[in-house]
Amino acid sequence: MQDFTFQNPVKIHFGHDKLAKLGDELKQFGQRVLLTYGGGSIKKIGLYDRVIKAVREAGMELFELPGIEPNPRISSVREGARLCKEHHIDVLLAVGGGSTIDCTKWIAAAACVEHDAWDFFDYEKRPPVERALPIVSVLTLAATGSEMDSGGVISNPDTNDKRGRLSPLLFPKVSFLDPTLTYTVSPYQTACGSADIFSHLMEVYFTTDHSMYLIDTFIEGMMRTVVRYAPIAMREPENYEARANLMWASSWAINGLVGCDKPQAWSCHPMEHELSAVYDITHGHGLAILSPRWLEYCMSNETLPKIAQFGINVFGIEATMPQKEIALRAIDALAHFLFDTLGLQRTLPEVGIVDETHFDSMAFKAVLPYGGNLPGFRPLTKEDVIEIYRMCM
Ligand code: NZQ
Ligand code: ZN
Repeated sequence: MQDFTFQNPVKIHFGHDKLAKLGDELKQFGQRVLLTYGGGSIKKIGLYDRVIKAVREAGMELFELPGIEPNPRISSVREGARLCKEHHIDVLLAVGGGSTIDCTKWIAAAACVEHDAWDFFDYEKRPPVERALPIVSVLTLAATGSEMDSGGVISNPDTNDKRGRLSPLLFPKVSFLDPTLTYTVSPYQTACGSADIFSHLMEVYFTTDHSMYLIDTFIEGMMRTVVRYAPIAMREPENYEARANLMWASSWAINGLVGCDKPQAWSCHPMEHELSAVYDITHGHGLAILSPRWLEYCMSNETLPKIAQFGINVFGIEATMPQKEIALRAIDALAHFLFDTLGLQRTLPEVGIVDETHFDSMAFKAVLPYGGNLPGFRPLTKEDVIEIYRMCM
């Protein structure tokens, strides 16, 4: 267990009627607001009109950046930063899923510098984030936790890179979490979002270091919450309790609480970001395909106790069996949840990755930031990552 400092500064408004406070929250940051959103879902669900009304009633001047892509691109960050500079924007209002919020975070930083936005992600340059415009978010999809964390992941199609970076200046100032805004999320995106939440929890839960009992129980509780409510939300999209539980789990899975006592790197996320960088697949689906294979690859005498603990406390596997048997059943239970219960396709060819053409370069990039050896639950070299990709074929 390592020492830690925990601080999460995001103010959350959670529930049905909280959007009524949007105008007041925005106004405290200035007069000129840039509204950012994705491909149009917020118009279909009537949220766009509600947001515009709130901004107008607050007497603010409104500018817009529509069309932020899933797996948001650096070109959208550049365009947003340009608009901020041209119109002297005071505050950014991100309305959407993780892609919109992530993109908006890096717009907030890029608006305050003269250099190109991609420099923030260039390993050779990586200038510090010294200033950022304030961000308010309205979340419409429970998945990434971007509404309550300080990170954002951006794709650069010119170089086939997808890179994330954190900065304490990029926490949203205020986030609105209204579970009813997720009623229209499709069963597929609900499954992918749930797989993403679950993976964020796995990334910090699976450690061979001694972790805090308290934190393990938080994580196991959140995992059980996802297992319980994701299928209900898929079956009954307007089940408030299910949507609310997933939404709050999305935020707490990655807001610093459950990762604070552990030093290790994440494993499935670096591997997945390479898949979505090259093939533009949905992040949560890539994670679902990788996760059970990765866990199987990690099995050793050293890792068995934690995998067995997971099986017993999350999936209710009988504790009296031999530890190896429990661990194998835990991995089966995880695969069953992701592929049978959530209905996600289970192999890379099923999401369009039909050959190994890019495995070598993707694996190289996945371990590059760690000097070639990703220090996770089981340390992974480039060759290990290629092997895990192969297990997914
Ligand atoms: O673009 P629109 O039209 O809004 O449609 C979106 C998009 O097509 C749609 N959608 C969102 N809310 C909806 C809705 N459709 C109907 N009703 C609603 N209420 O869903 C689709 C996916 O949206 P997106 O924002 O791309 O999904 P998600 O929230 O899963 O975000 C994924 C991105 O976040 C990154 C991922 O890598 C990926 O780029 N991540 C960010 C993290 C962070 N900031 O901490 C951590 C994660 O691990 C992840 O890497
Ligand atoms: Zn994720």
